[in-house]
Amino acid sequence: MIQTVRGTRDILPADMPLWHRVEDVAREGFRRYGFQEIRTPIFEKTELFARGVGEATDIVHKEMYTFIDRGREDREGESLTLRPENTASVVRSYIQHRMYADKSSGESTKLFYTGPMFRRERPQAGRYRQFYQIGVEVLGTSDDPAIEAEVIEMLDWFLKELKIPNTTLLINSVGEPATRAVYLEQLRRAIEPHLDELCGDCRHRFETNPLRVFDCKVESCQKIILTLPTITDSLDDGSREHFEQFKAHLDARGIAYTINPRMVRGLDYYTKTAFEIVAHDGLGAQNTIVGGGRYDGLSETLGGPPTKGFGFAFGLDRMVMALPEEEAELLRAADAPDIYIVFLGQGARNHALMVAKELRSAGLAVGMEFEDRKMKKAMTQAAKSKARYALIIGDDEVTSGRYGLKDLTTGEQEALSLAGIAEKLK
Ligand code: HAM
Repeated sequence: MIQTVRGTRDILPADMPLWHRVEDVAREGFRRYGFQEIRTPIFEKTELFARGVGEATDIVHKEMYTFIDRGREDREGESLTLRPENTASVVRSYIQHRMYADKSSGESTKLFYTGPMFRRERPQAGRYRQFYQIGVEVLGTSDDPAIEAEVIEMLDWFLKELKIPNTTLLINSVGEPATRAVYLEQLRRAIEPHLDELCGDCRHRFETNPLRVFDCKVESCQKIILTLPTITDSLDDGSREHFEQFKAHLDARGIAYTINPRMVRGLDYYTKTAFEIVAHDGLGAQNTIVGGGRYDGLSETLGGPPTKGFGFAFGLDRMVMALPEEEAELLRAADAPDIYIVFLGQGARNHALMVAKELRSAGLAVGMEFEDRKMKKAMTQAAKSKARYALIIGDDEVTSGRYGLKDLTTGEQEALSLAGIAEKLK
């Protein structure tokens, strides 16, 4: 038997109401905050991510699904990659379609996206090789920290609306690339004496980009990481001031946060503000539900005009897992039909089919089986469908045009016409 590929999974109908809820709340937030949707391809040229996300990141270095496309007789195929994230693609699209061209100074382009991403990570609960993200990118000429606080305010609204309990907003500033070079030298000097004690990956990171050592999850590396100087200690004045303003904007909104000077994020494009949101309930080790930050200069790296950027993505898989159980139950229950039709005898069947059609065109969700069953069996079926009401149609109902509508929670039954039923359930 052929099964799903390791690290991928089917999202089954029972879970779909939870996915839809998260998507609906996100879309409502995007409407309120003025974001427009963009859909970019699922695969892009490998170079986009190599340049955008950074050669030295774990994502590019060891997690991408890269393949050589079929070439033509006269030409070799090019290297393509299933997108591991969507910021690079959105910025590519922003440049390609010159979205900046018709904007007045200071006006931002506010985009959102949803879709699957692919990373060849070690699968575990909450970590998949095909996973789903919902994210936003604010692109333009302004790097006002108020933009950042407003985006986080929207996230705060999402979490409250979805009733996700117990989350922490972690923030940091990773500074400007120019000052980072000085810091990286300092970091290298601090790591060097401990090289023997670090894991193989960290030794590789030491060579390519020592900042990535902070991404390491290996326990024995952690105690060394805790002794290393943090980027926050050597911020340039501009970044420091930006961070102060960002915090003041969060304070003004009453949004609580924790500063984590060791949070550097796993992608190379970040400048200044970086943040994550961690959920403490319902998730195991993979409990970061949101990641984001500022990425001024990514556009230039990809050959575009000077552009400021800020955004985030949340893991849809993880957001669904973080929904409280009671909430999940309510959402699943709401997915049931409004009415389940029970008919008795072949004569009533054709009539029942017409009743189903009528009620559906009146906007109701109607469940019905085609097979003639005994009353008891049919009522069990109605209960199993989780419908609020059963509608009973026998020969008498066919002649009278009034049907027995049974409330399956209270057991009460009343006789109503079709119009009466549609009216009652509106
Ligand atoms: P990221 O931190 O790599 O950032 O991913 C964002 C979120 O995607 C994570 O917090 C997590 O919830 C989810 N996620 C990542 N990998 C997996 C996985 N293997 N399985 C399940 N969920 C996962 C980015 O991707 C940036 N593009 C975010 C961004 C947008 N920064 C600025 N703009």
